[in-house]
Amino acid sequence: MNITIIAGSNHSAATSTRLSEYIKHLAVQEGHNVTLIDLYRTPLPFYSPEDTHGGHQALEGFKHALLEADGIVLATPEYHSGISGVLKNALDHVGQDHFNNKAVLSVSSAGGAVAVSSLTQLQTIVRNLHGINCPEWISIGGDQRKSFRVDVAFADIHPDVDLRVRRVVRSFLGLAQQLTASVTK
Ligand SMILES: Cc1cc2nc3c(=O)[nH]c(=O)nc-3n(C[C@H](O)[C@H](O)[C@H](O)COP(=O)(O)O)c2cc1C
Repeated sequence: MNITIIAGSNHSAATSTRLSEYIKHLAVQEGHNVTLIDLYRTPLPFYSPEDTHGGHQALEGFKHALLEADGIVLATPEYHSGISGVLKNALDHVGQDHFNNKAVLSVSSAGGAVAVSSLTQLQTIVRNLHGINCPEWISIGGDQRKSFRVDVAFADIHPDVDLRVRRVVRSFLGLAQQLTASVTK
């Protein structure tokens, strides 16, 4: 399958981005074709109804990666009990054509223990875009974020966190597989 991961932080050393890289690593190990778009390294223009930014290379790449995706992962830092501005802006550029009937996994990193507010917000946006929310999500909060510092090797991720991430990624890939198979029948 084609899996597209959007890392929605505007921070070079974001833990949500490092977690996105780990999810990519796990999905590649399962034989999937994975595109990761990091919105810090690939910034998108501000959405405006008056300017479609036609021909903007990064924006075209972003839209194409979502259109081609069989499953989508959206990762965000939790900011003021919501998702990041850069991720919201990116999602404002796309619509139901990009998400319709695709499995979507929401992922968040928070300073507090859990990132429920941003995850709930993301799932509301996904529902509006007609994506299919994965019943599971990944929240890393507080000290769990230490496993996703840029200087920590994947092999050194805390075993409890690793178990959870692997289980949720497996469940997401299973849902994406089922939905892809039912659409192509
Ligand atoms: C502007 C701003 C707002 C934040 N708001 C919250 C919040 O509401 N709840 C929380 O738990 N952490 C909050 N944090 C902490 C971040 O969620 C935390 O640093 C997180 O790890 C950032 O994710 P990242 O490592 O992917 O950048 C906030 C941080 C910033 C900079």
